[in-house]
Amino acid sequence: MIGKDLQKAAKYLEEGELVGIPTETVYGLAGNALDERAVSQIFKVKNRPTFDPLIVHTDSIEKVQAFVSEFSPTALLLSRHFWAGAMTLLLPKKPIVPDLVTSGSPLVAIRIPNHPLTLALLRSLPFPLAAPSANPFGYISPTTAQHVAAQLGDKIPYILDGGACDLGLESTIIGFENNVPTIYRKGGLSVEAIEQVVGKVQVKTFSTSNPQAPGMLKSHYAPRIPLIIGNIEELISQFADRNIGILSFRKHFPQVNEKHQIALSAAGDLAEAAKHLFAAMRHLDGLDLEVILAELLPEQDLGRAINDRLRRAAAINKDE
Ligand code: TXA
Ligand code: MG
Repeated sequence: MIGKDLQKAAKYLEEGELVGIPTETVYGLAGNALDERAVSQIFKVKNRPTFDPLIVHTDSIEKVQAFVSEFSPTALLLSRHFWAGAMTLLLPKKPIVPDLVTSGSPLVAIRIPNHPLTLALLRSLPFPLAAPSANPFGYISPTTAQHVAAQLGDKIPYILDGGACDLGLESTIIGFENNVPTIYRKGGLSVEAIEQVVGKVQVKTFSTSNPQAPGMLKSHYAPRIPLIIGNIEELISQFADRNIGILSFRKHFPQVNEKHQIALSAAGDLAEAAKHLFAAMRHLDGLDLEVILAELLPEQDLGRAINDRLRRAAAINKDE
């Protein structure tokens, strides 16, 4: 069931059940992070391998201290700047965080999400929430309550409806290697914004076997039908005899059925494009098409994370 009833959401969570929750990035599939039964249910409902750890969500830096054994000055600086927000930090965990949550890693991923409903929910609960994106493993992340309902609605008792997500891209995941901030997943907080606060960072996001971020598989965020990236004009002539869909940055293509194409931002605004990306991929995936033709956006600010998602969406089809 979809609704806006915070008390109902809290009650289900206190009973160990799972609830869909809104955040400013994407919707999460939330359960009590300190309850192993609820956590194992998350893996089951998402059909997610247990080697892919979960992010723990809470509502204040004070509460974060209860779950991490060490908060370096750099980590603290970042959290003061960017929480509540689209940043997840990898920090050494305290034993209270179940190993199942971190897939056995000594580090726990922590985030304070910036959504009024979910912040109010977290404030009212005596425990933090483990929450991966509320999509079946490998598929496109949900940015509305209806997206969650369409795929997981029959598996969970409640979805808290907080409207369409403001950012539309998952959080940026940052760890520390010899105290150097290291980005393992590009996301809703840009590398440029992070560097303004802590100086140069390392970016290590494109490996299929990066032990620091086992979930960052190359094939991910993927529609069911093939998605091909390139120059759209050229791809259109190449696929002239196929039933094609188009995912472009700004332009429409008059030679293609208007209903089969989405421009992410006619104005060329990267934040607007990010906000629409996953819903657009989902929409095209739901049409009766043979292939989605897409183009990369400018490789700057949020364009970097958008391109990362496009490349991963395209990668799955190459593996098949
Ligand atoms: O914006 C977001 O981050 C959303 C919302 C719901 O908060 N959550 C999200 O969760 O995207 P998920 O599970 O779809 O992606 C979390 C990523 C995974 O790739 C996982 O491998 C990585 O975070 N991760 C989680 N805990 C980790 C840990 N202890 N060490 C390394 N990577 C970790
Ligand atoms: Mg995910």
